[in-house]
Amino acid sequence: MNDKAPGSLTVTLEGTNRSATLPLKHGSIGPSVVDIRRLYNDLGVFTFDPGYGATASCESRITYIDGDEGVLLYRGYPIEQLAEKSHFIEVAYLLLNGELPNAQQLAEFDRGVRYHTMIHEQLRRFFDGFRRDAHPMAVMCGVVGAMAAFYHDNLDITDPRQREIAAFRLIAKVPTIAAWAYKYSIGQPFMYPRNDLRYADNFLYMLNAVPTEPWVNNPILSRAMDRILVLHADHEQNASTSTVRLAGSTGANPFACIAAGIAALWGPAHGGANEAVLKMLSEIGHPKNIPAFIAEVKDKNSHTRLMGFGHRVYKNFDPRAKIMKETCHEVLGELGIKNEPLLEMAMELERIALSDEYFISRKLYPNVDFYSGIILKAMGIPTSMFTVLFAVARTVGWISQWKEMIEDPSQRIGRPRQLYTGPTRRDYIALDARP
Ligand code: CMC
Repeated sequence: MNDKAPGSLTVTLEGTNRSATLPLKHGSIGPSVVDIRRLYNDLGVFTFDPGYGATASCESRITYIDGDEGVLLYRGYPIEQLAEKSHFIEVAYLLLNGELPNAQQLAEFDRGVRYHTMIHEQLRRFFDGFRRDAHPMAVMCGVVGAMAAFYHDNLDITDPRQREIAAFRLIAKVPTIAAWAYKYSIGQPFMYPRNDLRYADNFLYMLNAVPTEPWVNNPILSRAMDRILVLHADHEQNASTSTVRLAGSTGANPFACIAAGIAALWGPAHGGANEAVLKMLSEIGHPKNIPAFIAEVKDKNSHTRLMGFGHRVYKNFDPRAKIMKETCHEVLGELGIKNEPLLEMAMELERIALSDEYFISRKLYPNVDFYSGIILKAMGIPTSMFTVLFAVARTVGWISQWKEMIEDPSQRIGRPRQLYTGPTRRDYIALDARP
């Protein structure tokens, strides 16, 4: 698999005769890494990489991104093939276990998820404690974190079976919690999960059904929802996944770790971007206002960003954005939505941005969030639920990465170092002696 020579990098501290030889490590694809663990012992220096732009925080076999080529692989399988040919539960199995399941493995996994969809009735009462206008992500952070208080029987993270049950519980119950957060905010009764429905359908059912009306599944929306879940399922060591790993490295239980991931995902630079895209489009209001908006984005003093554009890793089209754009056209077409002004504005923004020197020189392309908000809106999903939906999908990635970390024998607590620039040692000054 790996045909690269082991190799090493020798670093000399200028002005001294001290040097360190640091081994190179090679993955199956992608850039090699320099193992810097000896650097401090040998030279007494740390590395400095705020935002971790050049640091591999772990070894992983789950997801691979080639940002220059716009490639995303889950366990080696291209995202385009999975989005077209697979479905969310199969992708969840793949991410968690490393291989595509055979028919029996898939049926057992599917059953395992379906039969954990209900949440403890007492946990249901937590919802009443929130204000009606609470953002559903706030509810998600609270209720998912509270799961640890209800599922004591699988908190021994050293036991593989308990880890597996925790994974089932999280993947199965997060859609129930998400849908109830929404139902609570609009004052509708909670819809209990239906285990006869597929994952995406059950989620749509809990979001949209009411007890007084028959619920009719729309296969177009069902397919679109499943595809959105597949596209968001994992994305290697992004901010929320790294948060889950860092929390997990302390031995914290999986429910607490996933709650930490949800909190990190909430920010507009990460999962909150799909909500921010729609807000941006409605603030622009009309295509005629786009040039002024682009000028504002390019103005360094404005701090306005073109939301849904740019990515830390992708310096080319985000492959998920391409699939999202196609799905967006499909969904709007099938739903008979013509001349959707938000879509027209998004396409115009994309056209202008892709031909503008500012975006070209910085390699800023549409990311997954640029079109997902428009699809979700067309599907009748309220804006405040966009990031929640992302969290539902990403729970699979988080739990897969958490499991991989726990099962890694070399795993130890995550504890970054720092470059201290504060005051040096000084003596306490009594209050009456201070200037
Ligand atoms: N609009 C305008 N300028 C931008 C944008 C943008 N969306 N993104 C980056 N830039 C500029 C930035 O100002 C900087 O310019 P300069 O070199 O002149 O200072 C340059 O591009 C590099 O930006 P950066 O902030 O160093 O890049 P980063 O890797 O730290 O940030 C990002 C990545 C995703 C946070 C950023 O591109 C961004 O804020 N995008 C908008 C929010 C967004 O869509 N987020 C969703 C990411 S995809 C979903 C997910 O994985 O969560």
